[in-house]
Amino acid sequence: MTSADCVVAGCRELLTCAGPLPKRGRALRDVGLVENGWVASSKGVIVFAGTEDEFLARISPEPGAVTLDGRGMVALPGFVDAHTHLPFAGDRAREFGLRIQGWTYQQLAERGLGIQTTVKATRAASLDDLLALCLRRLDRMLLTGTTTVEAKSGYGLNLEDEVKQLEALRDLAALHPADIVPTFMGAHDVPPEYRDRREEYVRLLVDTLIPEVSKLGLAEFFDIFCEPGVFSIEETRTLVQAAKAAGFKIKVHADEFVALGGAELAAEVGAASAEHLIAVSDEGIARLAASDTAAILLPGVSFFLMLDKRAPARRLIDAGAAVALATDFNPGSSHLSSMPFVLELGVFTLGMTVEEAINACTGNAAYALGRHNTVGSLEPGKKMDLLLCDIPDHVSLAYEAGRNPVRTVIKNGRVVVEDGRRAGPR
Ligand code: NIG
Ligand code: FE
Repeated sequence: MTSADCVVAGCRELLTCAGPLPKRGRALRDVGLVENGWVASSKGVIVFAGTEDEFLARISPEPGAVTLDGRGMVALPGFVDAHTHLPFAGDRAREFGLRIQGWTYQQLAERGLGIQTTVKATRAASLDDLLALCLRRLDRMLLTGTTTVEAKSGYGLNLEDEVKQLEALRDLAALHPADIVPTFMGAHDVPPEYRDRREEYVRLLVDTLIPEVSKLGLAEFFDIFCEPGVFSIEETRTLVQAAKAAGFKIKVHADEFVALGGAELAAEVGAASAEHLIAVSDEGIARLAASDTAAILLPGVSFFLMLDKRAPARRLIDAGAAVALATDFNPGSSHLSSMPFVLELGVFTLGMTVEEAINACTGNAAYALGRHNTVGSLEPGKKMDLLLCDIPDHVSLAYEAGRNPVRTVIKNGRVVVEDGRRAGPR
């Protein structure tokens, strides 16, 4: 018998989302559904996920083991949000007002607003300010089931302020149960002081920022906004080569508004992921499908910017790309942080099935971050990151639209959300 210190008993539906990961094509529809499913863990690591009979034959709960009643509930892996701009200061509510009156995101950017507004506020904030903001946001994310969060800098755009954002992410590890995956995004935009000499900013990134951040060990990924008016394909190639040489894994904001070829480039350079892809070309779809580069779709952006255009999720999935979903939480183009809402957007606006959207928010999202050996599915050996939702079946994750179904969140085998409220260790 295997002993366990945490047991989730008798779930009406257990979705293990078990691999192999990533899931492509038809496999993306398999959520590993077990009726009357049980899960057990020891010291934060899953030792069992399966049927009641198997549980009774193989698992022996320790005296005093935490036992949660899953009756009437749907259990699934904690959500992995593979793309957020978490550590920013300020807000853009006033600019949102302008957008409602018809201004576009690009028009705001051309007038020095948009990302630059947030750069000003973030530069003015202290490390402690950023930490406090991040903690509140992570708590909110935890309440909607996010247990692993990729988070990027990119509102400092100079060494000191990029490092400040990344230090906030580093310090969160000791203060919050969510796992943080840090990304350096000094190539989010060209800062105002370099507007008329952009090549110098590219040089600064190559010669100073990329090597310094690498030396400090503050980020695992390098990300870049490859888009007309931001960084060109050639600049992206230069910066990605420098980042790879400095030991970073690569993420690319690709083909968000214009089909520039960012997806093709991401596949070519072996990026971990290409994200957005609202305007991706047929060639880009084919290249991603034939590669290990994940396609992270961010349907919150089309929603929040009120765009008619959406990422071609169906074509990407049917071509065989490793599709994931994420929030893109940021103050300008997607001011939302709920993965259940993103899951719904995947279904309602991208034509994904509920099962595809569930895998895209869990196992495939973990794959996109290179974390699929530890999170993203409920399988022995992985972290006990589990959600209990009070819905009659998994289809209701989308069908009960606009509602947060998450009642209990277990992170590393500890209850951190109970009855829909933040609980346990801070
Ligand atoms: O992913 N596309 C670039 N960056 C963000 C937006 C950031 C912002 O507007 O502050 C995005 O959409
Ligand atoms: Fe983004």
